[in-house]
Order: sequence, then structure tokens, then C-alpha cells
Amino acid sequence: MAGEKPRVTRRGFLAASGVALLGAAVAGSAGHAAAGPGTARLGDFWLFGRYDDGCTEPGFDEIDLAPVQLPHCVTPLSWTGWDPASWQDRWIYRKHFTGLANERFLARFDGVLTNAEVHLNGRPVATHEGGYLPFEVDLPGVLPGDNVLAVVVDGRWALDVPPNLPHSAGPSAIDFYQPAGIYRPAAIGTVPRTRLTDVFARPVDVLSPGRSLHLTCTLDGPGAAEVTASVRQAGRELARGAAQVPAGTRTVEFDVHGLDAVRLWDVEDPALCDVVVTIRSGPRALDQRVVRVGFREARFAQDGFFLNGRRLKLFGLNRHQWYPFAGGAAPDRVQRRDAEILRRELNCTMVRCSHYPQSSAFLDACDELGLLVWEEIPGWGRVGDAAWQQRNLRDVSAMITRDRNHPSIIVWGTRVNEANGTTAMYGRTGRLARQLDPSRPTSGALASTTGARYAGADIEVLAYNDYTARRGAPFQLRPPRAGVPYLVTESIGTLAGARAYRRTDLPATQRLQAELHAKAHDLAAADDRYCGLLAWCAFDYPSGWQRSMGGSKFAGVSDIFRIPKPAAAFYATQGDPLVRPVVEPGFAWDFTASPTGPGRDAPIWSNCDRLLLFLDDRPAGEARSRRADFPHLPHPGFAVDLTVPRGQRPQLRVDGYLGDRLVVSRRFSGDRARDVLSCAADDTQLRADGADATRVVVAAMDRFGTLRAGATGTVTLSLTGQGELVGDRELDFGATGGAAAVWLRPFAGPPGKLTLTARHETLGTATATVTTTASGSEGGSRS
Ligand code: GAL
Repeated sequence: MAGEKPRVTRRGFLAASGVALLGAAVAGSAGHAAAGPGTARLGDFWLFGRYDDGCTEPGFDEIDLAPVQLPHCVTPLSWTGWDPASWQDRWIYRKHFTGLANERFLARFDGVLTNAEVHLNGRPVATHEGGYLPFEVDLPGVLPGDNVLAVVVDGRWALDVPPNLPHSAGPSAIDFYQPAGIYRPAAIGTVPRTRLTDVFARPVDVLSPGRSLHLTCTLDGPGAAEVTASVRQAGRELARGAAQVPAGTRTVEFDVHGLDAVRLWDVEDPALCDVVVTIRSGPRALDQRVVRVGFREARFAQDGFFLNGRRLKLFGLNRHQWYPFAGGAAPDRVQRRDAEILRRELNCTMVRCSHYPQSSAFLDACDELGLLVWEEIPGWGRVGDAAWQQRNLRDVSAMITRDRNHPSIIVWGTRVNEANGTTAMYGRTGRLARQLDPSRPTSGALASTTGARYAGADIEVLAYNDYTARRGAPFQLRPPRAGVPYLVTESIGTLAGARAYRRTDLPATQRLQAELHAKAHDLAAADDRYCGLLAWCAFDYPSGWQRSMGGSKFAGVSDIFRIPKPAAAFYATQGDPLVRPVVEPGFAWDFTASPTGPGRDAPIWSNCDRLLLFLDDRPAGEARSRRADFPHLPHPGFAVDLTVPRGQRPQLRVDGYLGDRLVVSRRFSGDRARDVLSCAADDTQLRADGADATRVVVAAMDRFGTLRAGATGTVTLSLTGQGELVGDRELDFGATGGAAAVWLRPFAGPPGKLTLTARHETLGTATATVTTTASGSEGGSRS
């Protein structure tokens, strides 16, 4: 359908059907205008297989290659116990596309793990090292007619690329597995001969009415005479500015004034602005980019963190990007969902992207939801040789250039996590960061093992992974280091309390995790010198670090399926009860493990003022506030003594009050005979573009809808409709703790319907249905 007019979207030009969508695919918050028709769309089929001699040649026999769609992982995975041998190899991805005479073609990759070698029609055109940052490849010599882009993907550990260290014990030498593949979006398409390759729009003097926006625009190609910028908020233009482009200039800087009416960006009101930047030659527009910014002042000080001049205790978790079955290859919608879980369900004001730059879709969602971000370069525990450190510098540059327009990002982790590199090395990364972005501080998380020492003079935020409290000892945090802004970037994890927190672990272990998270945040809240605390961690993740755990780290407050564990209840209750009143018992109302109930001092997490209890609808007392245990938390929760005579299984009801007003009432059934199976999709509508997907949670529930973690047995799944089930067809509830999830991914094609049916021997059958809209239409809505 070449010749159709591209539609303008927030992120740039989304091409009409069959036409390239460059820009939208890779640029994150920076959209890009594609001037002409291309051929490949995100999610279109690529041919994939193991590397073979001649596989980059145009005439290679493709009979043994499989059609796949991006994002893609080279190997199917389970939800735990990943085997690095399954991805540690060289792989080939081939894409046929139709070239056009007199057009400039470009390929863009958001992320390829770990190294990529790009060939066009048998000719090597580029290489890229490192799996977490985007790269673009100019494709000179595209022929009219059929062309082949071949990408050799090398997923072996032996590569001397951060976070990998070649002289260490392989993929288990660091605490997260990294399955290979073109695992983030990619696209091939045409671009204008003269184009904008980058726009950095930096808000200046944000809190004064004379605030402005400083623009740094990078151009590629001849003939542009003028750059214009229009700043828009909520559909209205607030201000505009322009600058001339002297001949031969690559970078143009100018300021846009008149922004006194702008609404500031804040965690509670993340008001964004679009900045539409156009380059022109006379009246003719040569290229256009839309970047999204937010006006906010984020300040780390010795007495805390301040957002727009207001003290804000940073309350959050670390996030790894790994998913069951797909590794890192989760599409945008699924990435965005993690940000929603963190902000809306767990009430976090901040997330740390541990330990590498994460997907643009995730960061876009952080901007939209008001979730502050720590972003850091790839690395874990050690630094490598001079060449390796050189790659750190390149990563600092690529990370900041990709992400500096995101208002959610408030600090750059320019030092390798828990690796005390040299002062000279950190001096270099820090200087480069300041040059690329003078508006944010730099930092890097220090390890407990080395203490809160830092060998450099220019420290802006001292970040400390505080595992001072070891297993079995009373929980404590190290006192803040004086004379410097201080942030706790990790705590708890599996180093304090227990080695693993699974729904299948003892009730006391599961309770303990919630207690530790509450205690850590309470201690951080007690002292203004803590800017905040980001605990370890949001979601379980595959790792070979603790082999005794079978290839996973069960450190999350939610599991790897993103299903909350009891510790998540603490986070869920730290939000405003007027927005979402929550009552979450910290115990299972299940008489199998404890026949007389949860016993004395059983925790109930809640943000209500008062909780009244009922057993079989008969009053059973009022819960005690835990204010004395957690003096500084907004909502310290409650404790109750709940012992019932052996053999009885009464129904528990908890009524939550704000003042005299009943705001929430929940019932919990002790009768497992009436448990049911539930099957619930996060979204009711998806785009049939081959990339979009949604999660379906399959869980054993009591008859009031509370997860029955002690359920066992196998759930068998079947899918009808044009799509793929990303996940196991059999889920073992005994191993996952009564709940698990799979993802549904419609094939690219016409609209339709996907129905997932789940069957369990005693819990019955449940279904989830998702409708799919034609690719390109604005599909997608929440259930
Ligand atoms: C920290 C590390 C994290 C994680 C944690 C243990 O030292 O920074 O990535 O491994 O320990 O759960």
C-alpha cells in the first residue's frame, strides 16, 4: 500500500499498512518521521535458526529456518530452572524486504542480546556489542526488489561485554540470566535524506515563572535552514521557538520561553508536554520528531529528596526485566504493565532498573504514571579490563542519549552495581554523563561488603545496597553517611530473613518477608537523611547465582508471573485509602498448614483506620494497630489473635472503616471444597500485529476470590483462535503455589478472538477471552 499517507501519532509517524514504522519502534519517547514507504513492520515475520555456514548470503537455503516474530527469544523457556546452554550459541535472523530506488534505508534495533553482526545482501554493514541499548544501521546499497538483511546474534557468555566478564564462571557468575535474541522491537524502513537524529529538550529553571526549555537538536544531511519547536500540553500549544541552521552545522541549540502556564510533572499528577521539532528548507518540512518531556525539579539533598520543592520519601523496589517463557522478549504492553503494578498496585514512587537500561515502553509508562526511575549501565559486581571499561563509557553515552527526555528518570547510575571501580574510571563516566545531561546527578550502588565508602571526590548521591541485617539478626539499616545525599538502593532480598520467599514456603517465612519490607521502609521514613529506600525486589527472576534454588531467585514481593506474594500486601496498603482502601491478611485462611488458624499476632495489612473481624458473621473483635511496630509508616497495619477450635473452618470477614464509614469488606472461606479455578486476562483487546500480548493469570481461588496458595494439581490449558500461547500448557500448582500465568500473543492478521480454557481436576474449568483488532488500529483495553 505504498503511497498511503502516514498517520501522525504521539511517537511520530505510524506508517500506513505495509509501510515502515521507523522511529516509533526504537526512539522511545522520541518519535520520528518516516518520509517514504519501506517494507518491514515490527512483528513481521523474520526467518530464524541456528547459525550455519553461508547463512548471511542472499542465496542461503532457508528451508530449515523457522518464521518468527519480534520481540523474540532464541529458545523456549520455562518459568524457572533456565538452562543457559539453550541460548549460548550463534543464531541467524533473516529478513527479506523490498527496496526502492533513491530511498535511504535504515535498520533500527532496540535491543539484541548479546552481540549482533548485520549483513545486507551478503555484505557486512555493522556490528553491535551489548544487549541493552539500541543501535541504528544505515543500509546503503539497498536494491530495488528483494533484499536480505541477515543478523547474526551471538548469545555466548564468553563475550567481553558488560555485564558479562569473560574470565568468570559463565552465566552463573552474575545474579541474572540473559537469554539471547532480538528481544526488543526492531524495524527496517526509509528515512529522509536530511533528518533529525536526536532532540534533547531540557527544562530549565523549572520552579520559576521564567522557566524555559533548552533544545539541542542533532541533524544528519544537508539543506536544513531552520529548526522550529512547538511545546504542547493537553492538546494546546504553550510556546514555540526557532533557530536558523548555519550551513554545515550538525547541532543546533536554542531556548523556548513563555512557558509560565505549564503544568508541572509530579508523581501525583504526571503532566507531560509534547515538543514537536521540525527541520525545514524554506517552506518544506524535511523531517519531524516529537519528544515528550515533563517540567519537574528533582533534587537530592543531605536532608532528603525534593520533588518540585516538596519533600518526598522515595519508596520503591528494584525491577529485573525477565519474564517466564519469553525471557526478555516481552512486548511493549507487557513491559508497561510492570510499571502499572509498581505504581498503582504497590504504591511505589520509585523503581530502580537493576542492572541495565530497560525497555523504552517501560520508561514511557513510568513517565505517564508518575513513577520515578533510577537507570543504570549494565554491570554486576566487578569491572573488566580497559576495553571493558571503554564499553562502560559507550553505554553511559547510549543510555543517556536514549533516555534523557524522560521526566521520570531522576538519577543516572553511571557506576557498575557493587563494583568499586577506580576513581579515574568513575571520573570519566561521571564527566561524560554531565556533558550529555547537566540536569541529573550520577551515582552507583555500593555494596555492603565494601561499606559505604567511595573513593571519589565528586559523589553526588551516595547509594548503598544495605544488607547490614543478616539472616537471623534483628533488622537494621546502616546510618546514613553524613555530608552527602544518601539513598538505599537495595535491602532485604534473600540476604536478610530467608533464602527464598515462595508461596509454597512456610507461612512464617512468607510473613517474615512482609515484616522486613515494612521494617526497612519504616526505618528509612524515620530519618530525613535517607532520601528513600528501594528494596530488593519487585519480581522473582531466573538466576544461576544460588544454585540450590534451582535456577531462580525468589526474592520478589511478587513472583515471576507478577502475582503478588504476602509481602506485596504491605506495599499495596501504603497508598491513599480514599483512592483504594485495602485489606490484605498477611496469612492464608487455610486450615491445612495450621489446623487452628493463624494464631496470635497474625498480621493484617490495611490502610483503613479500623478493622472489625467476624467469624461466620459473628463479631470476633477488633484488630490492633501496629503503630508501635512501625511508627513512621503511613499505614502500619494491624495484628489479630485468630485461633479457632481444631476441626472448625469458619468464614472470616474483615470490615475496614475510615472514621465511621465502612469502606471495604472482605470475606475469606476456610472451606476448600468450594474453591474454584479462575482465569483472568489483563486486557480484553489486543492488536493482531504479531507482537502485542497480554498476561492471563490462572489461579485457585476460594469462593470469594482470594488466591488459595496451598492448592495443588495440574492445570491443563488450551487455546483457540489465531494466536500463540506463550507458556506451558500444563501448570503445576503444587510448584507455583496455586497460581501461575501465561501470555496470549495474537498472530498478525485479521481481527478475531482468542479463548484460553483452563481445566483442573477438582477446581473445574475457567476461560478468558480476548478480542483482537486489526494491526494498526488502536487496539487494547484493560479488563
Ligand atoms: C546484591 C545485588 C543484587 C542481588 C542481591 C541478592 O548484592 O546487587 O543484584 O544479587 O545482592 O539478592
